[in-house]
Amino acid sequence: MPNQRHSYFYPTRIEYGPGVVQELPSMVKETGFSKGLLVTDQGLESVGIPEKIRQLFEESGLVLVTFNEVKSNPTCTNVYDGTTLYKESGAQFIVALGGGSPMDVGKTIKVMATHDGSLEQYDDALGGDKLIQNNMPPFYAIPTTAGTGSEVGRSSVITVKATNKKTIIFSPFMLPDIAILDPELTVGLPLGLTAATGVDAFVHNLEAYWVDAFHPFADGIAIKGMSLCYNNLEKAVENGQDISARGHMLMGSSMGATAFQKGLGVNHSIAHALGVYYDVHHGLANAALLIATTQYNMEDENAWNRLASIGHVFGVKNDAEAILESLVHWLKRLNLPTDLKSFQINPNDLEKIEQYALSDPTCPTNSRKVQKDDIIQILEGLV
Ligand SMILES: [Fe+2]
Repeated sequence: MPNQRHSYFYPTRIEYGPGVVQELPSMVKETGFSKGLLVTDQGLESVGIPEKIRQLFEESGLVLVTFNEVKSNPTCTNVYDGTTLYKESGAQFIVALGGGSPMDVGKTIKVMATHDGSLEQYDDALGGDKLIQNNMPPFYAIPTTAGTGSEVGRSSVITVKATNKKTIIFSPFMLPDIAILDPELTVGLPLGLTAATGVDAFVHNLEAYWVDAFHPFADGIAIKGMSLCYNNLEKAVENGQDISARGHMLMGSSMGATAFQKGLGVNHSIAHALGVYYDVHHGLANAALLIATTQYNMEDENAWNRLASIGHVFGVKNDAEAILESLVHWLKRLNLPTDLKSFQINPNDLEKIEQYALSDPTCPTNSRKVQKDDIIQILEGLV
């Protein structure tokens, strides 16, 4: 609230534009370093994007050693393998290329290459953030999807294999030094994935805006980010080559991740649980839950009023019901699920899913205070 103490952090340097990735080698050269580690995955390798980046660096007299073993749910093994390659190759900087997973692994390699011990000791839940010093190599993030916004984020999520626990590593020093937002790199993203990742970006903005906290910076960014996603995702899905729509989605994605330092909500809490127990794609989970969680939040008067005040984003009057209706039609037009029927959720697991969601760090900031059994009730209407 306005009479309380707050800290706000604003993001990394962003270089935006079609083709802007070509300028990255000259930006890196300014540091005086010549050898870096490229962190990416096999999927991108198979469509040739990492090779283009390696060539760009080579043409500028710089060397990129590649670690392309990042898994879609990255593990500590990925981080340790990448860290070993970073150290043994004598790399001096890191370039992460891809969706959220290569970004998360790249950020964590940056920590592990400069800090002793095991990854677990840097677990944010155990106060590990306090152990992370500002002695890390330069880090450049090149997203090839518009969804997670991880290129402007200060944390990573890595699964520790021994415990199968998703561990959050967090530090302001993990923020990339430069985020390269080049919409040309996202035109190859399949249209189904474009829709699923794009709705994640939209929900980051919506849930961040909806958090009842005093954060006018984040609110402004979230409202504009929501508008960019709502007005451009269909265009990007209809025509993957639409650079304008792709560019707006990249911006909407970075804005969502910038805004959600304010917090997220129960849609993400449940989506995280469904990712852990059923491996449901994060974007699809967000889409499938969105209508039900919006209806749930709208039962709270403050939350209803807060949502109602942004009718202009959706081109409707300031009425939460009208906004909800817009969302239903939007998801249908995007061919995204609005329930969980296709994910075959076992009704016996609802309690377990609720328990995970209630303990997720996104739950306490939901726009309506979430009580025990609320999540089970939401899920019962969807499975
Ligand atoms: Fe998300």
